[in-house]
Amino acid sequence: MSQEELFFMRKPWVYDPKAPKRRRPDAHLGFDTRALHAGFRPLKDMGKFNTFTVPIIQSMTYPYERFDKIPYPVYGRTKTPTAAVLEERLASLEGGESAVLAGSGSQALFNLIFTIARPGDNVVTTLNTFGEGYKQASSIFPERCNVEFRFVKDPANPDSWAEQIDKRTKLVWVETPSNPCLFVTDIKAVADVAHAHGVPLLVDNTTLTAALQKPMELGADIILLSITKFLSGNATVIGGAIVGPEDLCEDIRWNTTEFVGSIMDPLSSWLTLQYLETLSLRMERHSSNAQKVAEFLRDHPKVRWVNYPGLPDHPQHELAKRQAKAQGGLLSFVVPGGIAGAAKVIDSFQLIIHAVTFGTSRTICMHPATITHEHMTPEERAAAGIDDGLIRLSVGLEDPEDIIADLDQALSRL
Ligand SMILES: Cc1ncc(COP(=O)(O)O)c(C=O)c1O
Repeated sequence: MSQEELFFMRKPWVYDPKAPKRRRPDAHLGFDTRALHAGFRPLKDMGKFNTFTVPIIQSMTYPYERFDKIPYPVYGRTKTPTAAVLEERLASLEGGESAVLAGSGSQALFNLIFTIARPGDNVVTTLNTFGEGYKQASSIFPERCNVEFRFVKDPANPDSWAEQIDKRTKLVWVETPSNPCLFVTDIKAVADVAHAHGVPLLVDNTTLTAALQKPMELGADIILLSITKFLSGNATVIGGAIVGPEDLCEDIRWNTTEFVGSIMDPLSSWLTLQYLETLSLRMERHSSNAQKVAEFLRDHPKVRWVNYPGLPDHPQHELAKRQAKAQGGLLSFVVPGGIAGAAKVIDSFQLIIHAVTFGTSRTICMHPATITHEHMTPEERAAAGIDDGLIRLSVGLEDPEDIIADLDQALSRL
């Protein structure tokens, strides 16, 4: 898309379930090959600047060749060359036409809803979403923009989704597996319901990433990503993206990037490109470590229950196995004694770090009821499974025996 098209021809994106999907030119390559090559070929893409790695182009403006030929990009608020490589790479990995970055995953969600919903419209979702997403859904959008969010009561039942959809529904939004309770939603079943009503399906693929789960192959139209988590993998970057039809991505760019400035800067984009090269190796190791940790916690007498889709007694274990190659590094577990019990365990950790994020190479824990999901009412937290004794654990890449030993000594303090 040229700058002229972006400026003068932009029309609001309208979902068309029958619109043909552009096949990406690298679609024949494997996931790991695309994680290393998508969006950038040395020499071909750099002209006289011969370079093996994608360069960090730290320029916020782009000179005109002629008075009447607007360069694209023209200004760092629209798009920058390094970030454009990351957009191509993420689109390629998710199997979408295009991508548009944002300053964080939360901002990517905001940009999407802000672009496609008008006052009086609604979005159908559940309480199984990340805390900032819930805050946008429960108060920011309804109070500021008159966009209603409808929370499905029984997300395991496709009819429950259908009941909430009406003529003003602009989007169905699913986070699976969800943060922090690892609820697994049947992507294909919900996609069928959404499509039967002419509504696009958004899947938040942050917790597993495309290395383990491919929602677009199961019917998702749009993907939400927090780059801050496993995609970058070590808490050095904050960023987000929407992957989806090119016209939608450019509509978002027009409405929220170009004029509002919600960008991911060149250095963070460049760092993410380096980290993506090891994404599938990391996700395999996160998953095998988390499986061992989940089995340990399940058998521990001080643990009331464990949420991890890789455990055979997880309510959606079979579905999880069908939908994803492995179950990733995120899990949560409940200790007795409510908030005091959780605090005791968290403060006793010696290796595991207490901080607000997940998807890091080092194991990290957090208390959702008092931190990320504190804005929910106690009834909503109960419905979402967020017990006061729930501890979220993002299992890192350490030797699993060391993570287990730290959990064991901390639980023994209870
Ligand atoms: C599943 C999920 N999606 C999106 C986000 C938002 O990401 P960010 O922290 O980059 O705003 C989060 C944050 O916790 C998340 O857990």
